[in-house]
Amino acid sequence: MSMAEQARATLRANDRGGYSVPTARLYPFQWNWDSAFVAMGWATFDEDRAWQEIHWLLKGQWDDGMIPHIVFHAPSDDYFPGPAVWGVMHAPPTSGITQPPVLAAAVRHLWDHARDRAAAEANAASVYPSLLCNHRWWQAARDPQRHGLVATLHPWETGMDNSPAWDGPLARVPTETVSPIRRRDTMLVDAAMRPRGEEYQRFIHLVDLFRDAGWEPARMLSVSPFRVADVGTNAILLRAEKDLLALARRFGSVPQQAEIETRIERISAALERLWQEEAGLYVSLDLVTHALCPVGTSAGFLPLFAWHGQARAARLAATLAAWGGRATRLVPSADPGFAGFEPKRYWRGPVWAVVNWMIADGFATVGNAGTASRIRTDTIALIETAGLSEYFEPISGEGIGGADFSWTAAIYLMWCGGGS
Ligand code: DGY
Repeated sequence: MSMAEQARATLRANDRGGYSVPTARLYPFQWNWDSAFVAMGWATFDEDRAWQEIHWLLKGQWDDGMIPHIVFHAPSDDYFPGPAVWGVMHAPPTSGITQPPVLAAAVRHLWDHARDRAAAEANAASVYPSLLCNHRWWQAARDPQRHGLVATLHPWETGMDNSPAWDGPLARVPTETVSPIRRRDTMLVDAAMRPRGEEYQRFIHLVDLFRDAGWEPARMLSVSPFRVADVGTNAILLRAEKDLLALARRFGSVPQQAEIETRIERISAALERLWQEEAGLYVSLDLVTHALCPVGTSAGFLPLFAWHGQARAARLAATLAAWGGRATRLVPSADPGFAGFEPKRYWRGPVWAVVNWMIADGFATVGNAGTASRIRTDTIALIETAGLSEYFEPISGEGIGGADFSWTAAIYLMWCGGGS
């Protein structure tokens, strides 16, 4: 079986009848940003199924516009924390926090690349109001004072759970929890590839805290000791706003277009505050101490994905080349020169195909085809050698974490699937 056939078989195996699990057992529900990428993968061979992925994710959207990071469509004991720990009143049950808003970019991608134009028009028109409502939520709930950068209140919201960028902000979060911690992930994957126990205690402390705050956005924002302007989330949101604007020009009103343009200007201006000259890339901002996070991560290249920072593209490419000199496969999730770099541990070093796809897209857009092609080639070689793993060790190239991963399959199909 070719790798493209394996990738399609993986998506089919992870299909739960309209939505995809990231992989069986380790992640037995629907995850927000996973599904955005997975929809683009499905679209290479089954456009109708791709749209279903989006519609199923939106079944979890809250009335205020928030799209949760997990939608618990069907029960499973394989994952902690399940719906009872979150204590969210919603049908279907959901978590109470969100994840990087790739969704509008995915919908635009599906709409732009559609072979079935009529279906794409109907589907995009039907989800556009939900996307608009979601982007309004980001501003109202996470940037109520209109500084320009949205706040992220939990490392899980960044999608890069144990990134070294969060070491400082996370250290402020107490380790005591009300909910007993019953990790399942370390029964399924080597604990050395997962976040540490102490990080989980802090992750769950935040869940307890927000549940006590009734999942009310203003209260969450004021009580959270973890409050960061994540460069990844803000860059992805900026890109998503630009894609939403394209959708608004087709499906929305003139005032809605103006509203989106205002947000684009505000985020674009604020994103420049995250440039770190010494490190040669963008970094996240701790919104409690107002200090820039001192560690470079792969998220620091994502402003290019938002068609932002063109003037800095050569410097970003040089930084990436320096990282490539230390870690043979691009793009490690943390600066390989950082003392706390851990090539096997989740977001502290390994390469993630979805992040590579976004960074390569950014370099291609600013005209650096060489860097874009190096990232693409490295990613394809990793997958063809090590399989459809959750993530990859950047020095040995070993496939690690969960196996048969949906979003890795999706990226392979977008790059090599040929749309057949
Ligand atoms: C996990 O459980 O590992 C996820 O990253 C949280 O969404």
